[in-house]
Amino acid sequence: MALPYFIFVYLFNLCLVTSAQTTYNNITLGSSLVAGDNSLWLSPSNDFAFGFQQIQSGSFLLALWFNKIPEKTITWSANRDQLAPKGSKVELTSDGNLILTDPSGRELWKPKQQQTVAAAAAVLDTGNFILIDKNSVVVWQSFDEPTDTLLPTQNLNQGSQLIASFTSKNYSSGRFSFDINYNGNVALYTTNFPLFNSLNSIYQTFEDQGLGYQVVFSKSGSLNLVDGSGDVLADVLQNEVSHEEIQYQRVILEYDGVLRHYIYPKNSSPSKNWFINSFSPDNICTAVTQQTGSGVCGFNSYCKLGNDMKPKCICPPGYAVLDSTNEMSGCFQNFPAQSCNAASTEKDKFDFKVLQDVDWPLSDYEHFENVSIEWCKEVCLNDCFCAVAIYRNGGDCWKKKTPLSNGKNDSSVDRIAFIKTRINGGSNHGH
Ligand SMILES: *[C@@H]1O[C@H](CO)[C@@H](O)[C@H](O)[C@H]1NC(C)=O
Ligand SMILES: *[C@@H]1O[C@H](CO)[C@@H](O)[C@H](O)[C@H]1NC(C)=O
Ligand SMILES: *[C@@H]1O[C@H](CO)[C@@H](O)[C@H](O)[C@H]1NC(C)=O
Repeated sequence: MALPYFIFVYLFNLCLVTSAQTTYNNITLGSSLVAGDNSLWLSPSNDFAFGFQQIQSGSFLLALWFNKIPEKTITWSANRDQLAPKGSKVELTSDGNLILTDPSGRELWKPKQQQTVAAAAAVLDTGNFILIDKNSVVVWQSFDEPTDTLLPTQNLNQGSQLIASFTSKNYSSGRFSFDINYNGNVALYTTNFPLFNSLNSIYQTFEDQGLGYQVVFSKSGSLNLVDGSGDVLADVLQNEVSHEEIQYQRVILEYDGVLRHYIYPKNSSPSKNWFINSFSPDNICTAVTQQTGSGVCGFNSYCKLGNDMKPKCICPPGYAVLDSTNEMSGCFQNFPAQSCNAASTEKDKFDFKVLQDVDWPLSDYEHFENVSIEWCKEVCLNDCFCAVAIYRNGGDCWKKKTPLSNGKNDSSVDRIAFIKTRINGGSNHGH
C-alpha cells in the first residue's frame, strides 16, 4: 500500500531540513553577483553553479547550470524574457529578498512566490537553488519555478508548467508547453506565442480525467504522473537506465516541442555528451495540428522527422526560409505572385513542382471529388489564389491558400502536393 501522500511529503521535507545544516554552502544576506564578473555560487560538490551566463554580447542570463561538463548546460533561468545587461546584479538583500537589478537599479526579476524573508540561500547538489529562513525552512526554491527543465527529485505540481525555449540558442519563452493544471489534466500544448495567457492546442495528452496530482522525476530516470495518493497513473516518459551508467540526467521540453529525457554517461567515452534516452511525442510532425497558428514549423514550411527522430522544417520548392538562423521561422514565396488580373492570368508563366506525401491539412479553401490529377492541376493553375493543389488517389483534389500551416511530410499523409511556382524563378527581392 502506498504511503498517504501528505505523510510522504512531510517526511521528505523533514529529511531536507535535517540534512540541510550539514550540506549547505550558505550564501549570507548581503551577498551578490555581478553580470560580467564571472563570479558564481556553487553547490557543495561543484556539480551545479548559479550565476550569469553570457547569451550574446553584453546580454546575460541569470541561470543554474551543470558546472563540471564542458557544455555548461542550463537547467533553469530567472530572466529568460528579459536578458540582463553587463553590470546587472543579483543580490540576497540584507532584509532577506532575492532580486535581480540592471545597472541603473531597475528590477529585472524576483521570485514569484517567496513565502517570507530569507535568512540565507544555497545551491544544492540536486541543482535546486533555495532560500531558507532562520529555521532552515525553505521559503522559495527554483524547483518550484521551472523554466523548460526538470531534474531528478524535482516534481511538477498542479498549476505549473515547462515552457520551451524559442530556439536552441534563444532561451526566451517559446511555442510549446508541458502543463499540469489545477483540474488535474496533463498535456503538451502549443502556446499562443508571444502571449502565454492561454494555451493553444493540445498535441499530446497524458491525463484528461482530472486525476493528475504531480509529475514526478525519480532518480531512476522515470518521469511519472501520480495521483493524490502517490500512485502512478501514467508514464510520461519511460525507459529507465541503470543508475551506474548515469552521471547526470535531465528532462527538457525543447524548442521543437518534444519532451526529452537526456542522460550524461558516467564512463569517459571519447564522444562523451548528452544523449537522448526517451522522448514524447513519437512523431512531433504528425502530432501537432493547430486550428490557428503555423504548426511545428513556421508558415509555408513543412515538417519531416529526420533519422535522428528530430523534426526538420523544410521550405517547398520556390520558397525560402525567412530567418536563416532559425529553420522554424517559416518560408516566403520567392517569386512574384501570380497576377489576379482577369485579362492576364499569367497561367502560362506557372507550373508545378511535385512533393510526395506532403500536406498542409487545414489550409484548403476548395475540395473536389472524382476528378483527375490533370483536372486538379488545371483548376489550381487557373486560380491566382491557389498556391498548392493536393491530390489523393481516388479523385480528391484540394486547393490550398497561403500562408500554408501545419505542413507535414510523412508516409501516413498519402497525398501528392503540387506546388505552384513561377517558371524560371523570377525571385522576389524584398528579402
Ligand atoms: C546556514 O543558515 C541557516 C539559516 O540562517 C543556519 O541555521 C545554518 O546554521 C547555516 N549553516 C551554515 C553551515 O552556516
Ligand atoms: C529571442 O526571440 C524572441 C522572440 O522572437 C525575441 O523577441 C528576442 O529578441 C530574441 N532574443 C535574442 C537574444 O535574440
Ligand atoms: C464518385 O464516384 C463514385 C463511383 O463512380 C460514386 O459512387 C460517387 O457518388 C461519386 N461521388 C461524387 C461526389 O460525385
